[in-house]
Amino acid sequence: MEYKRELLFKILVLGDFGVGKTSIVKRYAEDTFSPSYKITIGADFALRTIEWNKDTRINLQLWDIAGHERFGSLTSVYYRYALAAAVVFDLTRPATFDSIDKWVTDLRDRITLPNGSDIPIILLANKGDITTSNIETEKLNAFCTKHKILTWLITSAKENINLDEAMNKLMKVTIENVDQTHTQSPKEQIILTSDSKPQKRLCFI
Ligand code: GTP
Ligand code: MG
Repeated sequence: MEYKRELLFKILVLGDFGVGKTSIVKRYAEDTFSPSYKITIGADFALRTIEWNKDTRINLQLWDIAGHERFGSLTSVYYRYALAAAVVFDLTRPATFDSIDKWVTDLRDRITLPNGSDIPIILLANKGDITTSNIETEKLNAFCTKHKILTWLITSAKENINLDEAMNKLMKVTIENVDQTHTQSPKEQIILTSDSKPQKRLCFI
Protein backbone atom coordinates (compact mmCIF):
# COMPACT_ATOMS: atom_id res chain seq x y z
CA MET A 1 0.00 0.00 0.00
CA GLU A 2 1.27 3.43 -0.90
CA TYR A 3 0.83 6.24 1.57
CA LYS A 4 0.51 9.88 0.62
CA ARG A 5 2.83 10.75 3.43
CA GLU A 6 5.15 8.95 5.73
CA LEU A 7 6.25 10.81 8.82
CA LEU A 8 9.03 10.23 11.27
CA PHE A 9 8.20 11.33 14.81
CA LYS A 10 10.85 11.34 17.47
CA ILE A 11 9.27 11.10 20.90
CA LEU A 12 11.27 11.33 24.11
CA VAL A 13 10.55 9.25 27.20
CA LEU A 14 11.98 10.94 30.29
CA GLY A 15 11.93 10.63 34.05
CA ASP A 16 14.00 9.47 37.01
CA PHE A 17 15.86 6.16 37.06
CA GLY A 18 13.75 3.07 37.60
CA VAL A 19 10.35 4.69 36.93
CA GLY A 20 9.74 2.34 34.00
CA LYS A 21 10.78 4.23 30.85
CA THR A 22 12.51 1.27 29.20
CA SER A 23 9.62 -0.97 30.21
CA ILE A 24 7.10 1.43 28.66
CA VAL A 25 9.07 1.66 25.42
CA LYS A 26 9.55 -2.12 25.22
CA ARG A 27 5.90 -2.81 25.95
CA TYR A 28 4.74 -0.28 23.37
CA ALA A 29 7.24 -1.19 20.63
CA GLU A 30 7.66 -4.94 21.16
CA ASP A 31 4.81 -5.93 23.49
CA THR A 32 7.22 -7.46 26.00
CA PHE A 33 7.85 -6.87 29.71
CA SER A 34 10.62 -7.98 32.02
CA PRO A 35 10.31 -7.74 35.82
CA SER A 36 14.07 -7.42 36.23
CA TYR A 37 15.72 -4.00 36.25
CA LYS A 38 18.46 -3.40 33.72
CA ILE A 39 19.68 0.16 34.02
CA THR A 40 19.85 2.15 30.78
CA ILE A 41 23.17 3.78 30.01
CA GLY A 42 22.92 6.91 27.87
CA ALA A 43 19.92 6.34 25.69
CA ASP A 44 18.22 3.60 23.78
CA PHE A 45 15.55 3.75 21.16
CA ALA A 46 12.83 1.64 19.61
CA LEU A 47 10.68 1.95 16.53
CA ARG A 48 7.06 1.26 15.86
CA THR A 49 5.16 1.92 12.67
CA ILE A 50 1.62 3.17 13.00
CA GLU A 51 -0.91 3.15 10.18
CA TRP A 52 -2.49 6.38 11.35
CA ASN A 53 -5.10 6.55 8.60
CA LYS A 54 -5.38 5.58 4.94
CA ASP A 55 -3.12 8.44 3.87
CA THR A 56 -0.62 8.64 6.68
CA ARG A 57 1.89 6.28 8.15
CA ILE A 58 3.93 7.29 11.19
CA ASN A 59 7.34 5.86 11.94
CA LEU A 60 7.53 6.44 15.64
CA GLN A 61 11.00 6.62 17.10
CA LEU A 62 10.88 6.36 20.88
CA TRP A 63 13.96 7.66 22.65
CA ASP A 64 14.39 6.15 26.05
CA ILE A 65 16.76 8.42 27.96
CA ALA A 66 18.53 7.01 31.01
CA GLY A 67 17.24 8.48 34.27
CA HIS A 68 20.79 9.22 35.29
CA GLU A 69 21.32 11.34 32.18
CA ARG A 70 19.46 14.46 33.21
CA PHE A 71 22.47 16.64 33.56
CA GLY A 72 24.67 14.67 31.20
CA SER A 73 26.42 16.54 28.41
CA LEU A 74 24.76 14.36 25.78
CA THR A 75 21.22 15.33 26.69
CA SER A 76 21.04 18.11 24.08
CA VAL A 77 21.89 15.62 21.36
CA TYR A 78 19.16 13.31 22.54
CA TYR A 79 16.64 16.14 22.56
CA ARG A 80 17.42 17.36 19.03
CA TYR A 81 14.49 17.07 16.59
CA ALA A 82 12.16 15.69 19.25
CA LEU A 83 8.53 16.50 18.51
CA ALA A 84 6.84 15.29 21.69
CA ALA A 85 7.67 13.85 25.10
CA ALA A 86 6.29 11.51 27.73
CA VAL A 87 7.51 12.32 31.24
CA VAL A 88 7.19 9.42 33.64
CA PHE A 89 7.08 9.04 37.41
CA ASP A 90 6.66 5.98 39.60
CA LEU A 91 3.53 5.72 41.73
CA THR A 92 5.40 3.58 44.27
CA ARG A 93 8.11 6.24 44.77
CA PRO A 94 6.53 9.69 45.32
CA ALA A 95 9.94 11.38 45.16
CA THR A 96 10.04 10.62 41.45
CA PHE A 97 7.09 12.99 41.00
CA ASP A 98 9.07 15.78 42.68
CA SER A 99 11.65 15.48 39.90
CA ILE A 100 9.08 15.92 37.14
CA ASP A 101 9.23 19.70 37.50
CA LYS A 102 12.93 19.61 36.58
CA TRP A 103 12.43 17.30 33.61
CA VAL A 104 9.63 19.46 32.25
CA THR A 105 11.52 22.71 32.81
CA ASP A 106 14.56 21.24 31.09
CA LEU A 107 12.45 20.23 28.09
CA ARG A 108 10.79 23.62 27.85
CA ASP A 109 14.15 25.41 28.11
CA ARG A 110 15.77 23.36 25.38
CA ILE A 111 13.06 22.59 22.85
CA THR A 112 10.79 24.81 20.82
CA LEU A 113 9.15 23.32 17.78
CA PRO A 114 9.92 24.92 14.42
CA ASN A 115 6.36 26.29 14.25
CA GLY A 116 7.08 28.14 17.50
CA SER A 117 4.83 26.08 19.75
CA ASP A 118 5.85 24.30 22.92
CA ILE A 119 6.75 20.65 22.67
CA PRO A 120 3.68 18.57 23.57
CA ILE A 121 4.19 16.71 26.84
CA ILE A 122 2.15 13.99 28.51
CA LEU A 123 2.62 12.95 32.15
CA LEU A 124 2.57 9.24 32.97
CA ALA A 125 1.97 7.91 36.48
CA ASN A 126 3.50 4.47 35.97
CA LYS A 127 3.27 1.17 37.88
CA GLY A 128 -0.47 1.68 38.30
CA ASP A 129 -0.78 -2.10 38.60
CA ILE A 130 0.97 -1.89 42.00
CA THR A 131 -0.79 1.10 43.54
CA THR A 132 -3.02 4.02 42.69
CA SER A 133 -3.92 4.85 46.29
CA ASN A 134 -1.54 7.80 46.59
CA ILE A 135 -2.75 9.64 43.50
CA GLU A 136 -3.70 13.24 44.19
CA THR A 137 -5.87 14.09 41.23
CA GLU A 138 -6.15 17.80 41.95
CA LYS A 139 -2.41 18.17 42.42
CA LEU A 140 -1.76 16.44 39.10
CA ASN A 141 -4.41 18.50 37.30
CA ALA A 142 -2.92 21.72 38.68
CA PHE A 143 0.59 20.62 37.72
CA CYS A 144 -0.51 19.89 34.15
CA THR A 145 -2.25 23.25 33.83
CA LYS A 146 0.75 25.11 35.23
CA HIS A 147 3.21 23.44 32.86
CA LYS A 148 0.90 23.26 29.83
CA ILE A 149 1.03 19.48 29.89
CA LEU A 150 -1.61 17.85 27.67
CA THR A 151 -2.89 15.50 30.34
CA TRP A 152 -1.82 12.85 32.86
CA LEU A 153 -2.57 9.17 32.72
CA ILE A 154 -2.14 6.21 35.05
CA THR A 155 -0.09 3.64 33.14
CA SER A 156 1.35 0.19 33.62
CA ALA A 157 4.06 -1.23 31.41
CA LYS A 158 3.52 -4.56 33.11
CA GLU A 159 -0.21 -4.77 32.38
CA ASN A 160 -0.12 -2.65 29.22
CA ILE A 161 -2.46 0.01 30.58
CA ASN A 162 -2.94 3.34 28.78
CA LEU A 163 0.23 3.21 26.70
CA ASP A 164 -1.64 3.27 23.38
CA GLU A 165 -3.76 6.12 24.70
CA ALA A 166 -0.68 8.12 25.72
CA MET A 167 1.13 7.66 22.42
CA ASN A 168 -2.01 8.30 20.37
CA LYS A 169 -2.54 11.57 22.19
CA LEU A 170 1.05 12.68 21.50
CA MET A 171 0.83 11.65 17.84
CA LYS A 172 -2.49 13.44 17.39
CA VAL A 173 -1.10 16.73 18.66
CA THR A 174 2.11 16.26 16.69
CA ILE A 175 0.18 15.70 13.46
CA GLU A 176 -1.74 18.90 14.14
CA ASN A 177 1.58 20.70 14.57
CA VAL A 178 2.90 19.20 11.32
CA ASP A 179 -0.24 20.19 9.43
CA GLN A 180 -0.12 23.69 10.88
CA THR A 181 3.53 24.10 9.87
CA HIS A 182 2.79 22.91 6.37
CA THR A 183 -0.14 25.28 6.03
CA GLN A 184 2.17 28.11 6.97
CA SER A 185 4.88 27.07 4.48
CA PRO A 186 3.53 24.62 1.91
CA LYS A 187 6.91 24.21 0.22
CA GLU A 188 8.17 22.39 3.24
CA GLN A 189 5.64 19.62 2.82
CA ILE A 190 7.33 16.29 2.45
CA ILE A 191 5.33 13.65 0.66
CA LEU A 192 6.91 10.25 0.65
CA THR A 193 5.93 6.79 -0.39
CA SER A 194 6.68 3.60 1.44
CA ASP A 195 9.55 2.72 -0.90
CA SER A 196 11.47 5.90 -0.04
CA LYS A 197 14.98 5.44 1.17
CA PRO A 198 15.18 5.71 4.97
CA GLN A 199 17.20 8.91 4.96
CA LYS A 200 14.53 10.58 2.90
CA ARG A 201 11.89 9.78 5.44
CA LEU A 202 13.06 12.37 7.92
CA CYS A 203 10.34 14.91 8.42
CA PHE A 204 11.17 17.47 11.05
CA ILE A 205 8.46 20.07 11.27
P1 GTP B 1 16.62 3.80 34.00
O1 GTP B 1 17.02 3.08 32.77
O2 GTP B 1 17.58 3.56 35.12
O3 GTP B 1 16.41 5.26 33.80
O4 GTP B 1 15.21 3.16 34.52
P2 GTP B 1 13.85 2.99 33.69
O5 GTP B 1 13.00 4.18 33.93
O6 GTP B 1 14.13 2.63 32.28
O7 GTP B 1 13.14 1.77 34.45
P3 GTP B 1 12.86 0.29 33.90
O8 GTP B 1 11.91 0.31 32.76
O9 GTP B 1 14.14 -0.39 33.72
O10 GTP B 1 12.05 -0.33 35.15
C1 GTP B 1 12.59 -0.40 36.45
C2 GTP B 1 11.92 -1.55 37.20
O11 GTP B 1 10.52 -1.29 37.35
C3 GTP B 1 12.03 -2.89 36.48
O12 GTP B 1 12.24 -3.89 37.44
C4 GTP B 1 10.68 -3.05 35.80
O13 GTP B 1 10.31 -4.40 35.63
C5 GTP B 1 9.76 -2.36 36.79
N1 GTP B 1 8.57 -1.79 36.15
C6 GTP B 1 8.54 -0.90 35.12
N2 GTP B 1 7.29 -0.58 34.80
C7 GTP B 1 6.48 -1.28 35.62
C8 GTP B 1 5.07 -1.37 35.77
O14 GTP B 1 4.27 -0.74 35.10
N3 GTP B 1 4.61 -2.19 36.78
C9 GTP B 1 5.45 -2.92 37.56
N4 GTP B 1 4.90 -3.69 38.50
N5 GTP B 1 6.78 -2.84 37.45
C10 GTP B 1 7.30 -2.05 36.49
MG1 MG C 1 15.87 2.39 31.28
